[in-house]
Amino acid sequence: MNIATSPGSVLGFTLDAMNRTPDPRLRSVMASLTRHLHAFVQEVKLTEEEFEQALEFIVAIGHATGETKNEVVLAADILGVSTVVALQNNQDPHGESPAALLGPFWRANAPACALGDNIARSGTPGIPLEVTGTVRDHRGQPVADAMVDVWQASPVGLYENQDPAQEDMNLRGRFRTDAEGRFHFRSVRPAGYPVPTDGPCGVLLRAQQRHPNRPAHLHFMVSKPGHKVLITQVFADDDENLESDPTFGVTRRLIGRFALAPDGRSASMHHDFELEPGEMKFPRPPIP
Ligand SMILES: [Fe+2]
Repeated sequence: MNIATSPGSVLGFTLDAMNRTPDPRLRSVMASLTRHLHAFVQEVKLTEEEFEQALEFIVAIGHATGETKNEVVLAADILGVSTVVALQNNQDPHGESPAALLGPFWRANAPACALGDNIARSGTPGIPLEVTGTVRDHRGQPVADAMVDVWQASPVGLYENQDPAQEDMNLRGRFRTDAEGRFHFRSVRPAGYPVPTDGPCGVLLRAQQRHPNRPAHLHFMVSKPGHKVLITQVFADDDENLESDPTFGVTRRLIGRFALAPDGRSASMHHDFELEPGEMKFPRPPIP
């Protein structure tokens, strides 16, 4: 009989009830999640009030999600979960990862650009930045006609969808590599920015005395049929928050060299990407 006699007795019944799940992966993932959840609730001796608060947090991150912000993605990011998923699914042969979390601001269908174009379309003031790089495959061969999708915050630390002063799709663009796998484009140096703190994630960060400031970075999504889509970020090497990213996205390999010209009036950044063989599957955009 499935009648609970103690907190610990519920787990067995729950797993039994889920055991008929025909999809074996769904069965094992849900069984493991349930085991961890039950253990967690008992380990911290979760009170009824705390349980209610937890459920309210989940409802609130849903409500705070809309056209310009995805609070659910942000919650996964500030808990470190997004980075764990990115790293464990993208290990290179040296045990390092070229990938980083997608973040909440990627939009599909950024404007198609020609190599050399400037993605600062709103006359965005800031230090001009020249970005260059090469896309190679796992054998080190250049990948021609790869798609390099880039998006970044402005020099005041806002994505265009957060900032009425920027034109739609400002600081976003998609480039195709040339026959030697190279790409280059112009932009302005991004600033670090606080993750949105006006929602439930901000409440949590304040309760934990954590600062919300991400180090300055450029987001990249590199793709080519026959290869796994590489989702990553390249961080400014001189940013004061490099070692305290609230989303834990920085790895040694993703620290870019942002070189300032001797006159201090422009900057350049070079970064190479490596694609692994696999299926070209794009993530669902967190915002439209
Ligand atoms: Fe970002």
